[in-house]
Amino acid sequence: MNWTGMEWGLANRLSKLIKPDGRCFYLAMDHGYFQGPTHGLARPGEAAKPLLPYVDGLFMTRGVVRSTLDPAMETPLILRVSGGNSMAIGDLADEDVTVSIDEIIRINAAAVGMSTYIGSDFQHRTLMALANLVNNCAPYGIPVMAVTAVGRELKEKLEPRFLALACRICAEHGAHVVKTYYCDDFEKVAAGCPVPVVIAGGPKTETELEVLQFVYDGIQQGAAGVNLGRNIWQNEHPVAMARALQGVIHENLTPDQAHDLYLTIGNS
Ligand code: R5P
Repeated sequence: MNWTGMEWGLANRLSKLIKPDGRCFYLAMDHGYFQGPTHGLARPGEAAKPLLPYVDGLFMTRGVVRSTLDPAMETPLILRVSGGNSMAIGDLADEDVTVSIDEIIRINAAAVGMSTYIGSDFQHRTLMALANLVNNCAPYGIPVMAVTAVGRELKEKLEPRFLALACRICAEHGAHVVKTYYCDDFEKVAAGCPVPVVIAGGPKTETELEVLQFVYDGIQQGAAGVNLGRNIWQNEHPVAMARALQGVIHENLTPDQAHDLYLTIGNS
């Protein structure tokens, strides 16, 4: 990452979130904001604790941070600041920013993250919310991660033309990092986005190797890293999975090498 010309505080925060190798590993634990007590996240603080040594950032909402996390934790916090809807009813795209800039500063967020819903009825509102969040965070040097959310349409929207469009639009609106999904021809998505792109995991896969493979492939094709949740904390051996992913992201392990590491730690 080139910090030239970047204001010191912003560069300082981003330097903790994007490591000198240009890679990053964020642990996503924000799912409860629209899914409630998701399997594996009933007690988010307890689930997070053993995983924090392996990750570069933790993505969570303020309510869960305040009520379940040790304030002495050293892992940078990426605060989820959008919400306002649920799985229970309606269109998931109907989101807005839920956290004020005062709260963001008070909770000492290293960065904030929010969802945009490009291609939905709520495209305009969520993009204006992104632009306003960037404007509100800019005076304090707080970076913004934009999520290219797809609601219930993951299958339909998992294609490079759409994701490239969505990522680029988020970057153009001022996001410092964009979170999207891995897809075929992912290099087109990464190449079209001028800021680091991280990939989410989506629902838990059948095997660990699948996850290690798409994370590896994503990085080879230009992703900076991951913002990944269910495939870690819904795994039978979350610590082993986090360590294996760290190996792929920061140590250039191949999927097979990382899988061996997963099995060694998981079976020990
Ligand atoms: C969307 O932003 C979600 O809230 C998650 O942060 C994201 O999907 C990553 O989690 P998972 O790897 O479980 O999809």
